[in-house]
Amino acid sequence: MIIFSSSRSPQAVLKKQLFYLKRGVIDPSLHYHSLKQSKAWEKVFQRHCPVLSEPSFSQIYRTLFSRFTIPSGQRTHLIGLGCGTGVKEQWLAQCVKRGGFSFQRFTAVDVSERLCQLSLKRLRPFVLQKPKGWVIDLDAAKELRCSLDQGDRTERRIYTLFGLVPNLDPSLVLRILKTLLRSGDQLFMSANLAPVKNKEESEVERAVKRILPQYQNRETREWLSLLFEEQKITKKMISALRFGIESEQGLRSVIVRGEVLQDFEWILGGRRVRMKKRDSLKVFQSRRWTSFAFEHWMKRAGFKVRACEITPNGEEGVWWVER
Ligand SMILES: C[S@@+](CC[C@H](N)C(=O)[O-])C[C@H]1O[C@@H](n2cnc3c(N)ncnc32)[C@H](O)[C@@H]1O
Repeated sequence: MIIFSSSRSPQAVLKKQLFYLKRGVIDPSLHYHSLKQSKAWEKVFQRHCPVLSEPSFSQIYRTLFSRFTIPSGQRTHLIGLGCGTGVKEQWLAQCVKRGGFSFQRFTAVDVSERLCQLSLKRLRPFVLQKPKGWVIDLDAAKELRCSLDQGDRTERRIYTLFGLVPNLDPSLVLRILKTLLRSGDQLFMSANLAPVKNKEESEVERAVKRILPQYQNRETREWLSLLFEEQKITKKMISALRFGIESEQGLRSVIVRGEVLQDFEWILGGRRVRMKKRDSLKVFQSRRWTSFAFEHWMKRAGFKVRACEITPNGEEGVWWVER
């Protein structure tokens, strides 16, 4: 069963796209919009995500999840925010099952219907009730919270937010989490990290340079370029994508940009956005936190950090936090 939020209606998607585009940015959720884009992202995930290829990455999830237990008799609801294929939520559910318990319910939350469906299929054997999907933009977290509260308010809610922190503005991440999590609700979230040895600026720059090839590859280029192809933006209008490192709000990010090569009007749902020659369009951003900065940020926002695991190479961390 999948519920469709009005936040993913063609009008809402267009409104968001225009809002970002007028600021020279591509709405990050737009890269998962069409079926073709979702499939292309799955390819990037399978080829380049170290979580699937390097045992030390999946191990941090399994180690953290093994510490989580469900008190007997408690009704629990696992909610996967931006769940993608659901592979990490499956590891969590497997771990809980090994301990002799099961989640009562699972809700897959994603902008992509296809990815929601994949997660539902994956989690079905591990939950007691038939899982539900929500095709919704997390910008509309209030709508999701209202719907959850119309159900069982006494259930214990366990949220996951994996792989999304790098792509969303930190203030938006906090707004989503504060809207959804009630006191006592649990959250597992991951962050891509700059593998630093110390906090010096030059060290952070060096560390992010080292992980750049994880992004600068054929599959990622093809995935991010699909948006232009599908919207009939040719290579004469926007240049080939360029991958670099930029600093913003004290965080280093891998940024992918395209340069506008000629003046043109991008026509979207009957609306025109004027693109000017030499303007730079931010197509994709992946923020690389340091573990100290990430933890400090969560604590300052009022979350209690219960546990954390970081890969031996320092490139990824996963946190268990509580509101
Ligand atoms: C980088 S992928 C991570 C997927 C998965 N959680 C994982 O770690 O493998 C980001 C996921 O978030 C979804 N997504 C992106 N922006 C979103 C938004 N604004 N609201 C809801 N889902 C979003 C995408 O469709 C995609 O499945």
